[in-house]
Amino acid sequence: MRECDPKNHLMVALDVENGAQALALRDQLGDAVGWFKVGMRLFVAEGPALLRKLGSDHRIFLDLKFHDIPNTVAQAIESAGRLGVDMVNVHAGGGEAMLAATATAANAFPDMLTIAVTVLTSDPMPKAQAKQVALERAALARDAGLHGVVCSVHEAAAIKAQCGDDFVTVTPGIRWGGQDLQDQKRVADPASAVLHGADYLVIGRPILQADDPRAAALEAQAMIRNALV
Ligand code: C5P
Repeated sequence: MRECDPKNHLMVALDVENGAQALALRDQLGDAVGWFKVGMRLFVAEGPALLRKLGSDHRIFLDLKFHDIPNTVAQAIESAGRLGVDMVNVHAGGGEAMLAATATAANAFPDMLTIAVTVLTSDPMPKAQAKQVALERAALARDAGLHGVVCSVHEAAAIKAQCGDDFVTVTPGIRWGGQDLQDQKRVADPASAVLHGADYLVIGRPILQADDPRAAALEAQAMIRNALV
C-alpha cells in the first residue's frame, strides 16, 4: 500500500487537553495533514462528540490501545467501528485470542484499519529484545487478520519483510532538523521513515509545539513527498 498524496502519510497526534484546542489545531493545519490521531487524554475528556466536530475532511485514528479480555475488546472494536473512525488499535500483548476476537469484530467495518501496538517505546526491555518481540507480535497480529502494527521506524522494514508489503506500519518517534527528542528514544526523520517502510508517520510535539504548526506540517509533507518519488 502506498498513498501517493504525501499528506495522507501524515498523522498529527492531537495530544491536547480539550476539544477547543483540538479544533483550533484542525483549523490551523487544514489540508497540510491527512490524519488526526485522537488518544486517551482527549477522548476521555471530550468523547465521541469531538470526533463528530472534527468533521470529515480528515481521517481519524482512534488511539486507545485496547487491552482486555477478548469479548470486551471485540465489543470496544464494534463501538469504534460504529463511530466511523478510519483506524483503531489494540495492544498485541493481549495475545492470540484477543487479536482474533478483534479481527472478527472488525470484519463488520471493512473501511476501518485495525492495527496492533507491538512494544511501547517506554518499555524498559533491551533494544534487541524489543525488536524480536515486535516481530513476534507483528506475526501474531498478521496471523489473526489485523491490518498492521504500530512500531518504531527501526523495525518497519523487518516487519514488512516478514508480514508483507501490504501489512500497514504506523510509526511514532519522528524528529527532524535537530528537534528536541523529548522522551522518544529511537527517532527518524520523515524521509527516512518513509524510505524504511513506514506507511503512516505519527507526529506530535514537532508540529504542536512549533512556532508555526502548519509550516512544520508542510515541511514534513515535503520531506515525505521527496522520499516517495
Ligand atoms: O510528540 P511526539 O511526536 O513524540 O508524539 C508521538 C505520539 O505517538 C504520541 O501521541 C504518543 O503517545 C504516540 N506513541 C508513541 N510511541 C508508541 C506508541 C504511540 O510515541 N510506541
